[in-house]
Amino acid sequence: MYELKLSPSILSADFGRLGEDIKTADQAGADYIHIDVMDGAFVPNISFGIPVIKSIRKCSDKVFDVHLMIEHPDQLIPEFAKAGADIIVVHAEACKHLHRTIQLIHSLGVKAGVALNPATPLSVLDYVLEDLDMILLMTVNPGFGGQSYIPAMTEKIRTLRHILEEKGLQTDIEIDGGVDTKNLRMVIEAGANVLVSGSKIFGGDIAENVHQFKAIMAE
Ligand code: DX5
Ligand code: ZN
Repeated sequence: MYELKLSPSILSADFGRLGEDIKTADQAGADYIHIDVMDGAFVPNISFGIPVIKSIRKCSDKVFDVHLMIEHPDQLIPEFAKAGADIIVVHAEACKHLHRTIQLIHSLGVKAGVALNPATPLSVLDYVLEDLDMILLMTVNPGFGGQSYIPAMTEKIRTLRHILEEKGLQTDIEIDGGVDTKNLRMVIEAGANVLVSGSKIFGGDIAENVHQFKAIMAE
């Protein structure tokens, strides 16, 4: 059976004290650290890149779950692997040769994930499903923290878990965007198991927020 993992998104951390915020989330029980890289082209926002990942790598031994919201990811994937990514997630919409990109990530000894925007159908994964360690379903349109969960995505999560089960696959389903303590149980029951949350973890008392999420995950 797949395990539930909490992956706090540092996009909503205080960048002036990023190392401390990551350590707080780590010690409070975060399983992964979700790292949102935005290029101002694939999404209408810019966040941070390789040098930042390299320097925060020494703040935590947790799994670095790197979500690339960038165009032409292939040319930079080796640098993200070198910087300390444990999982690299690319967007299907940004990859002209998705199969090749997945092979490239694996050739570097890193786990490979593919993200789908809310409007992108699951069928784009039909011929790569067995090659993936994780599928990230965006539950908001990517680019910003603090948006509201799109209700139609619950059915998408359920359908994907069903497809995976039919194929006998235990692939992780990560969901990202608008996840809070009120909808967490619902998305887990639909079949998500890697839960990203940014603003609801890093806004306010980080340790207390992690504890609240983990308590709901343990129910
Ligand atoms: C959005 C990012 C998310 C974001 C989630 O493009 O991929 O990871 O940080 O933030 P919340 O949890 O605030 O919706
Ligand atoms: Zn993300």
